[in-house]
Amino acid sequence: MESIIINGKNKLEGSVSISGAKNAVLPIMAAALIPKGVSIISNVPDLKDTRTMVKLLEEVGAKVVFNNNILTIDSINAHNPEASYELVKTMRASFYVLGPLISRFGKVKVSLPGGCAWGPRPVDYHLKGLEELGAKITLDEGYIMAESEKLIGSEIEFDFPSVGATGNLIMASVYVSGKTIIKNAAKEPEIVQLCEYLVKMGANIEGAGTKQVIIRGVKKLQAADITVIPDRIEAGTFLIAGAIMGDITIKNVNPNHLTLVIRYLRAVGSEVEIKNNQISIKKSNKIKPINIETNVYPGFPTDLQAQWVSLMVLADGNSSIVDNVYKDRFSHVPELSRLGANLKVENNKILIHGVKKLKGAKVMSTDIRASASLIIAGLAASGKTNISRVYHIDRGYENIEQKFRGLGAKINRENN
Ligand code: UD1
Repeated sequence: MESIIINGKNKLEGSVSISGAKNAVLPIMAAALIPKGVSIISNVPDLKDTRTMVKLLEEVGAKVVFNNNILTIDSINAHNPEASYELVKTMRASFYVLGPLISRFGKVKVSLPGGCAWGPRPVDYHLKGLEELGAKITLDEGYIMAESEKLIGSEIEFDFPSVGATGNLIMASVYVSGKTIIKNAAKEPEIVQLCEYLVKMGANIEGAGTKQVIIRGVKKLQAADITVIPDRIEAGTFLIAGAIMGDITIKNVNPNHLTLVIRYLRAVGSEVEIKNNQISIKKSNKIKPINIETNVYPGFPTDLQAQWVSLMVLADGNSSIVDNVYKDRFSHVPELSRLGANLKVENNKILIHGVKKLKGAKVMSTDIRASASLIIAGLAASGKTNISRVYHIDRGYENIEQKFRGLGAKINRENN
């Protein structure tokens, strides 16, 4: 089993380049299955999750070449509208093939994802929405089967603006007869880019990035090329590390996607400067505690909640963070305690009492973002931190140790 070993307390200096966004490329890859043709996707992060999606596309019958962060997807001979349990259980985002496959084949069989490290994470909105469009849905041996020769445009309203359900139902609607109106849609930049890609293919989509997305069915889509947007969560992770111990510049980033994160970093005392697609951050001598909440975009992302906690555990006073998106995503809390943090969970809120210093220890990574928070805390702690189960980090961060080493951190991977 591999572990990440950190010898902490080194100042972070220099610059780091941000990779393409995981949560943008996964639905884009699924969308490439809708038309018959060859799509070229650039700025693709080489992650375990991207590799899992490649396997899934191959299972469906597409030919995929992945080289130098460029993906070529040839979907011409795709023939098998199925996503197996073996793949879906390792990555929930595999569920993103639901919409594209029903659009392309009129039927789809996708394994139900099951739970994940931080709770049940249902897919009811995806299924209710498809039913609303006229698909017949059945469940057999853990697989969802959806079928419809022709989906009919309809009005769908989510109780909560789910990112995955918005993406899936947009992709399911590209060929509907009439129009689909999605109300209370997700506004995340990753959904905006998915729409941009589908429009390049010939789809008719209005309102991407707003609460109401309207998709008018078209007869045919053609394969298209796209460059993936920068990963705002990876950027946020490096910015938070910089707020604790850095004087660093993040390159290849879209600052507009990080407005609130930057505002909060300034509020805790960091010096942040924005120049085109670069953000520089300098730590302050004292980290001010603030109380924040996660929310859907443009709110503070739940995917940065764990990393933010690593910053606040070192703040000069008491703070809190409420997670309004995933109400039990707190597996990093007991691990951070092992490093000397003083914090506790109350319902969907973490209450943090800032400490002067952290001390290295053995900790365990439990999901992608919790792992990132442990790396940040380990870098800030004195002595040696050993993070086990690091395969989680490889799902969502490209070359994370190399990138931190480039900033002067002492971080390595060991087999033990
Ligand atoms: C996506 C991101 C994930 C991020 C999350 C929230 C990808 C691949 N993953 O996940 O990194 O943390 O958005 O920003 O893009 N819900 C339901 N029923 C459903 C669907 C969702 O109740 O059918 C609830 C969820 O339990 C959760 C909330 O809606 O409380 C948001 O989930 P959602 O936006 O769907 O997250 P994902 O798309 O799975």
